[in-house]
Amino acid sequence: MSRTPFIAGNWKMFKTMAETKEFAEAFKKQERTSAVKTAFCVPFTDLMTAKEAFAGTDIGVGAQNVHFEDEGAFTGEVSLPMLKEIGVDYCVIGHSERRQYFNETDETCNLKLKKLLQESDITPILCVGENLEEREAGKAEDVVSSEIKADFAGIPEDLAEKVVIAYEPIWAIGTGKTAGPEQAEEMCGFIRRTFASLYSSAAADKLIIQYGGSMKPENAAALLAEADIDGGLVGGASLQPDKFAAILNAVK
Ligand code: PGA
Repeated sequence: MSRTPFIAGNWKMFKTMAETKEFAEAFKKQERTSAVKTAFCVPFTDLMTAKEAFAGTDIGVGAQNVHFEDEGAFTGEVSLPMLKEIGVDYCVIGHSERRQYFNETDETCNLKLKKLLQESDITPILCVGENLEEREAGKAEDVVSSEIKADFAGIPEDLAEKVVIAYEPIWAIGTGKTAGPEQAEEMCGFIRRTFASLYSSAAADKLIIQYGGSMKPENAAALLAEADIDGGLVGGASLQPDKFAAILNAVK
């Protein structure tokens, strides 16, 4: 089964509108392969600027979160109708930083996935992954499978197969420590088997699984060469046009 590689940048809380514009102009000039789908998940305040700057290109734009209600007294939150009007293509759900610092739970991830899948064409990028303590205790698979089961609860196969899953071991995010290619492949393969057991092997064959955690030009080729790693969710290295283009070009 051939899956189109998909590598997305996750800018986190970096870049103003002016910086977004500047980045886009520089990134559009980079030599890059057309064999890889790509997108940038940017702060809410940069979404419109990014949409305009990348209009007419094959570069997608994503948000980093969404609320599961359409509107209401939820100070500081952003709803799906708001994202739809901007025309965003992707939305990150359940990033470990949101789970860790902003009380994101599997229950809210599940509500957000349902909202996106039932009411929009926005592709969710669902993040899962274990922390260092869990890995050292030999619980990485248990943690990841319980996240997947809870996050997909009640979501039928025809919707579930639209989701992109990003495997992001928390100990590798922003730390410079990358999971080795075999280690990352082991977990991405496990995620595919877990998804197959929840749905079907046909759905699991189509599932796009990204690796995330200190992916950079130097380690991207080895990670992306693994059978179950279909792309990446790239934080730090997506903030520089040349570095990010080099990661895209690492796809064989
Ligand atoms: P990093 O972040 O590439 O800076 O480790 C990845 C992520 O958190 O998505």
